[in-house]
Amino acid sequence: MPEGTYLFPDGFLWGSATASHQVEGNNKNNNWYAWETQQGKIYQDQKAGLACDWWGGKWKDDFDRASATGQNAHRLSIEWSRIQPEQSRWDESALETYRSMLRGLIDRNMTPMVTLHHFTDPLWIMEKGGWENEEIVSLFETYIIKVVEALKEYVTLWVTINEPNVYTHGGYLGGEFPPGKNDLKAAFFVMRNMLKGHAAAYHAIKKIQPQARVGLAHHYRGFEPAKPNFAPDKWMASFLSRNFNDSFAIGAANGKFNFAMRKEYIPQAINTQDFIGLNYYTREYITFKPFATKSMFYQGKYDPKSPLSETGFIALEPKGFYQALKWCKAFNKPIIITENGVEDSKNMIRTRYLYEHLHQMWRAINYTWPIKGYFHWSLVDNFEWERGWSQRFGLWGLDVETQTRLHRPAVDAYADLCKTNGISSESVKKYAPEIFDLLFPE
Ligand code: FCB
Repeated sequence: MPEGTYLFPDGFLWGSATASHQVEGNNKNNNWYAWETQQGKIYQDQKAGLACDWWGGKWKDDFDRASATGQNAHRLSIEWSRIQPEQSRWDESALETYRSMLRGLIDRNMTPMVTLHHFTDPLWIMEKGGWENEEIVSLFETYIIKVVEALKEYVTLWVTINEPNVYTHGGYLGGEFPPGKNDLKAAFFVMRNMLKGHAAAYHAIKKIQPQARVGLAHHYRGFEPAKPNFAPDKWMASFLSRNFNDSFAIGAANGKFNFAMRKEYIPQAINTQDFIGLNYYTREYITFKPFATKSMFYQGKYDPKSPLSETGFIALEPKGFYQALKWCKAFNKPIIITENGVEDSKNMIRTRYLYEHLHQMWRAINYTWPIKGYFHWSLVDNFEWERGWSQRFGLWGLDVETQTRLHRPAVDAYADLCKTNGISSESVKKYAPEIFDLLFPE
């Protein structure tokens, strides 16, 4: 049996990622809280409620666990509706709470990465039409300036917006996110205003903190033709990838925004990423369906050979991760994995998912692709949007009623990885023997 270690570069960031509404609890002033009070919007009408009770202080124990298990970084997000509960009111005590959290990370020798917008919007913003209304661009910029001035002592690594494509698809095409619309024109304006908002945020942050590294967390989903040589499947897969994966990222690179068959040149967005943030979960196979008007003329399926996550939400596709990294590399910037993980309350595939994806990341790094860090989604089970508590992405599990954390086997595998800065044959043998031959062939 071969023995050895896939080593990662010195100074590599190893952490996990969370988002305000998913972990804080009692966020009552945003559009998701309102959405959760409506019947039929969330799985079994569940609510975020106390979530992981971070606002009540439970972040301390979670950060302790992360740091004791070798994580040297953490990605969290700021809740706009807490900082600016009304247009004319700033809540300084909320900023103070975030300052304590960030100090908490620094005290534990963990590098903070801060996301400024992760899916939720204040109610007063939604009353103005949310991201459909261009007025939001300057309102977002004002919020950014306030937050960055208050937190700059602790943070230099910023994500302006998390997954603009998922936000837009969920809220304005699929309808599973608030405001639950299905309107292509509105979707175009939401994405375009998000790009303008991102550009404004980028320039504002750099003005306050020239040494800041600012980027976006892009959700990249792999779309492959179901029949690799069949032109209509190939065209459809590439159409989906251009709209879903490329439009925002290319807009933030060269200002040429092209989405939903509309174009706009946004020069202030040119070169507004210091790194490419990547959220990768899975890939699917696309069949062109000429008569499927309701599903945009295609059907997407997972490869029947790929193991599925507990609720069938994610297929284990580590090679798709490699493809996603290749996509990132084309932007010629440092790359940070801002999310990657799998829902798995019964510990069926999480450890294997982790090793197989990190092995693909190691391959990319060994081609000297500039990958600087990895944030696993997530540190602890948290409120999974319209899927409520039905999906469990945490390294640690959560008993929502008692707020007890459950130590999952992947905690040890990840701790070993973070502490040794590598994937050793010994650990794979110990934690995921079923894939030993795959990772360490003779
Ligand atoms: C991503 C979101 C994150 C989490 C994971 C599972 O799309 O950014 O908040 O819900 O999916």
